[in-house]
This record gives sequence, structure tokens and C-alpha cells, in this order.
Amino acid sequence: MDLKGRNFLTLKDFTPEEITYLLDLAADLKEKKKSGVPVDHYHGKNIALIFEKTSTRTRCAFEVAAHDMGMGTTYLDPSGSQIGKKESIEDTARVLGRMYDGIEYRGFGQEIVEDLAKYAGVPVWNGLTNEYHPTQMLADMLTIRENFGELKGRKLVYMGDARFNMGNSLMIACSKLGMHFVACTTKEYFPNEELVETCKGYAAQSGATITLTEDVKEGTKDADVIYTDVWVSMGEPDEVWEKRIKELSPYKVTKEVMANAKDTAIFLHCLPAFHDLKTKIGAEMGQRFGIEDMEVTDEVFESAQSKVFDEAENRMHTIKAVMVATLGEF
Ligand code: CP
Ligand code: NVA
Repeated sequence: MDLKGRNFLTLKDFTPEEITYLLDLAADLKEKKKSGVPVDHYHGKNIALIFEKTSTRTRCAFEVAAHDMGMGTTYLDPSGSQIGKKESIEDTARVLGRMYDGIEYRGFGQEIVEDLAKYAGVPVWNGLTNEYHPTQMLADMLTIRENFGELKGRKLVYMGDARFNMGNSLMIACSKLGMHFVACTTKEYFPNEELVETCKGYAAQSGATITLTEDVKEGTKDADVIYTDVWVSMGEPDEVWEKRIKELSPYKVTKEVMANAKDTAIFLHCLPAFHDLKTKIGAEMGQRFGIEDMEVTDEVFESAQSKVFDEAENRMHTIKAVMVATLGEF
């Protein structure tokens, strides 16, 4: 499989075989890291990490993966560059493309990362946009595979706002890889129809199914994976908190939801999570709305079924695989 020179912008651009290849490569790189076998064939290469939104996992995963492999990194923070303010994305792409071997971009509209990729002349990796979060998908799929041995036929239920990056990306990943995807939320938060149609096309090829339901009991029944994400994403206005808390509370992941899934079911969350309200924003919302948690209870988050920290670790191994594959295998 040769992915050298390819961008990694959305899983829509990748075949099931290519995605599986990236997962296999990630598993191999993880094994090597755990057993102390170095993979550091990229000395002399450098990558740029552009973050127009904040990050813990994605930034650290790119930096550790790059450093493990002998590469240099430059982090451009949400305010510390000329991008989009004094300099267009096209010009930025052409400048960075002359200096770096690859560019990670996290920001707002998908068209920005697509534009960057069009002009950079080096691989561009999407570290999250409003629409998609493809590197997260590889970590999620690797975690599911580690728990169940295979992906095909597994039922993944996404609860919450399914219109944004996580809901969209999970629907794409599941439909490409032959999984049963359920968006369990109110109609208003169902993924957009055009993307559902596209994914139904993938599903017809892979044996996957796509279900949109408002019914928690029916939706989560016999699930293998229960997945949720924050109810308010980065870049959304503060005004939406009240409405989201009101409308999405019935879709909180509780122990009753987990009990309705299979005994072997796991809980995943891309993180950060509002499982308790000890953080600054959490405490403020807790006080304002008289709540103790949001999208998942602390009980579920801390339970043995919760694999969220394996999932977070897998961000690093899978991002390493994306870089190895697109920069060219050593
Ligand atoms: N899951 C994820 O992308 O986390 P960060 O926002 O911390 O990068
Ligand atoms: N939907 C969330 C995902 C964070 C990893 C956001 O965009 O903020």
C-alpha cells in the first residue's frame, strides 16, 4: 500500500483497505514503541503544527510521534502566526511547504484545510475541523479493534450532537468499515442528509448499516460501543449551552444506557469530557444550570467499561502511522 504524498483530510478520501492498512501500521508502531524498538528514520525532516483552536491530545500526539521518529516540530498557536489575519491560507501553504515536510492543521471550516493542502505541496493532516476529525477516527477504530478483535459487524452508537465533526466522522468510519452506526439523539441533531446519503453508499459496499433514532432504549440495545462527545464544541457561541443541556440531557450516557448495551460493551469519548464539573467551564455550567455532569456520568466515565485513556493513547500511535504512510515508509 503506497500512501506517500497523500493528504489526510477526511476518511471520505480513503478506501476501507487504506484505512485498515493505517490501523495495521499503527498497531505495529504501537508494538514497537512498547517493546523499545525505535522507529526513527525521519531525522532531518520537520513538520509544522498549526492550531487555530486549542488542543491537548492532538498537539501532544503529533509532537511525541514526530520526536519519536527523529523529526523537528514547530507549533503555531491560535494567535501566534499571521495565518488568516495578515496572510492568506494559500500564501501560508506555499511558505510552509518550502520549509516543512508535512503540515498539521486544526481549525474551523474544512475548506481551509482543503485549501492548505491544495497549495502546500507536502502532505497536510487534518487535526480537526468543524466538519471532520479523521485522526481521531483511527484512534477510535484501533481501540475498538483492540477490544473486539475486529470491526466488521460491531454496533457503535453515537449519542449527542451528531451534526458536527465527531458524529460525521464516526458515521463515515463505521460505514466504510462495515460497522452498524446509530446516531441516537433528537431529530434536530441528526447528521446532515447529504452526508447520510454518501455514507449509505459506503455502507452498501461494506455491509454496514446507518440508523438515526430518537429512541435511547432501541438505539443503544445490544451495542458494542457507546460513544459521546461534548455538547458544545470549540468555536460555538456561549449562548448555545442552555439549549444543548436541555435538549441533549435525555441522551446522556448513564449506567442504564450501558446496561442496555451488550455486557461486553465499551464506552468511548474523544475527550475532553464533562463527566464531572470540576473544570472552570464545567463549574460555571454546574452552577448556572444545577447539574453535576453533562454528556456522561462520572460513574460510567470511571467504570471498567470506559476505554477513554486507551483511546487517548492511541491518538499518538495512529497519528504516527499517518505520518509514516504519507511521508513515505522508511
Ligand atoms: N480529542 C481531541 O482531539 O483532543 P484535543 O482537543 O485535546 O486535541
Ligand atoms: N466536537 C469537539 C471535539 C473535540 C475533540 C469539538 O470540536 O470541540
